[in-house]
Amino acid sequence: MTILILGSGGREHTFAWKIAQSPLCKSLYVAPGNSGTAEIAQNVNIGVTDFSAIKTLVLDKQIDMVVVGPEDPLVQGVHDFFLNDQALKHISVIGPQQAAAELEGSKEFAKEFMMRHNIPTAAYQSFNASNVEDGYAFLETLNPPYVLKADGLAAGKGVLILNDLNEAKAELKNMLVDAKFGNASSKVVIEEFLDGIELSCFVLTDGKNYKILPTAKDYKRIGEGDTGLNTGGMGAVSPVPFATPEFLNKIEERIVKPTVAGLQKDNLPYKGFIFIGLIKVGDDPKVIEYNVRMGDPETEVVLPRLKNDLVEIFQAISNETLHTIDIEIDERAATTVMLVSGGYPESYEKGKEITGIEAITDSIPFHAGAIVKDEKVVTSGGRVMAITSYGNTYQEAIKKSYQNIEKLHFDKMYYRKDIGFDL
Ligand SMILES: Nc1ncnc2c1ncn2[C@@H]1O[C@H](COP(=O)(O)OP(=O)(O)O)[C@@H](O)[C@H]1O
Ligand SMILES: [Mg+2]
Repeated sequence: MTILILGSGGREHTFAWKIAQSPLCKSLYVAPGNSGTAEIAQNVNIGVTDFSAIKTLVLDKQIDMVVVGPEDPLVQGVHDFFLNDQALKHISVIGPQQAAAELEGSKEFAKEFMMRHNIPTAAYQSFNASNVEDGYAFLETLNPPYVLKADGLAAGKGVLILNDLNEAKAELKNMLVDAKFGNASSKVVIEEFLDGIELSCFVLTDGKNYKILPTAKDYKRIGEGDTGLNTGGMGAVSPVPFATPEFLNKIEERIVKPTVAGLQKDNLPYKGFIFIGLIKVGDDPKVIEYNVRMGDPETEVVLPRLKNDLVEIFQAISNETLHTIDIEIDERAATTVMLVSGGYPESYEKGKEITGIEAITDSIPFHAGAIVKDEKVVTSGGRVMAITSYGNTYQEAIKKSYQNIEKLHFDKMYYRKDIGFDL
């Protein structure tokens, strides 16, 4: 098969790494890709939401399957674009259709879905500019901290957690009336605060059947001890040690089953990954959010533990025969540590040469914000490279990642030295 991956991060390099191992994959393209995907696939400089350029590429290269990495093209309906085009409709697309992608595209839609299907989540109400006063009144009924979520996609910046009631009211007004997050905050979901430890669960579905992938925990804050600004993710660990079989069973029964059944009942066509953000409150899992694609850097620890041929799984998703696949998971733990540009997530410099990659022996360097320029690998983004390792325990794996990072260098390189500290 000829396969196209859309995206350019560590997630997409990991997909490319895994797909390239499949005997079913004859030819692999990544759009736009990075320096890591350039080594194992052919990069094509096309944006992930440029549907007409994607169409031209797909027809030109006779692509059979498109694997969608990020959420934007899914929320903009890339799968529907293929299905509605006579020349493209036979091509497999891994990722939900637009109606189902609303689970990530609209926080309110996701909340209504969970309420309808009795899926445990925080209590909430949603507001818009016309009833901002009701929003203030609702805030007064809650205990701090106050959780305010912009309804639409806001690149991971649309959630505010505030301790002070007046500040929460002011921010609510900022979001609804002054368009703090543009159109994304024309609606705001206000939620009950859930106190507990977070983890993520990853599910594959063909719309009818599902398979559960390993859990992972990511580290979002820039600073050690989970302090400072939010980032796209600074590292991840899989499996999550506190996710016991009993707890995983609760996740499957109370959350995964009703989610997949709910998709069918509501006619939300879904062939792809469901990323369920969870919080463990006492001994019970509650859903924080759905994402309609894999996480980054969670992919960098989840896919390396999957022993199956990923292309075979994708074919089964496409043919709605996912029930025939037995998922096999590597018993070892996997960890990843993200190397970032100094200054990230605020302003940072690009174009710094990355050296030492070839010296890495028993870790896998997944490239993220890195490109090839003048035959050198240079930084091109905030999150630059994710160093993944295996170990019999996550402690052993993380040690390996840190040992290998010692061999890598770029100007103003930064990383967290405490990934897994809270487990
Ligand atoms: N109800 C809640 N209670 C406590 N913390 C929350 C709640 N909702 C979100 N959070 C925190 O805010 C983060 C971002 O929220 P999330 O819904 O995942 O939005 P996004 O990933 O789209 O920015 C979560 O990872 C979690 O740490
Ligand atoms: Mg989230």
